[in-house]
Amino acid sequence: MQTDFEPALPTAAVAIGQWHIAAQSHQLEPHKPLGVSVMSEPVVLYRKKDGAPVALEDRCPHRWALLSGGRVDGDNIVCPYHGFKFCPRGHLIEISGKSGSPSMDSARVYAVIERDSLIWVWVGDGDPTSAAI
Ligand code: FES
Repeated sequence: MQTDFEPALPTAAVAIGQWHIAAQSHQLEPHKPLGVSVMSEPVVLYRKKDGAPVALEDRCPHRWALLSGGRVDGDNIVCPYHGFKFCPRGHLIEISGKSGSPSMDSARVYAVIERDSLIWVWVGDGDPTSAAI
């Protein structure tokens, strides 16, 4: 028997694979990481030297410290716990002043753009380049 009742889909299931507002542009200050939650995903935002925003998972792949508690160093971010340095592509590039180990997992990278004084982050699968904001 069919009814007229259709259960609502969970919000996350509907909104995954879209651009989401992560912050207002003025909230993302130079040299200062900003931890945000985008569709329940922990994300750290920061600006590179040229001002372009970067979005990585806010969880260090080493021991899961919050990268948002770290510091920005040029175009990179440094974990506050053991000082591992990650580039905007999420790769470990330095361990306490030495080159990074290629065997270590990278930090997850999110597509990010800045438009209309907002920072937009892509969460989920799909092609963010073909999706409108
Ligand atoms: S937890 Fe980030 S470097 Fe160890």
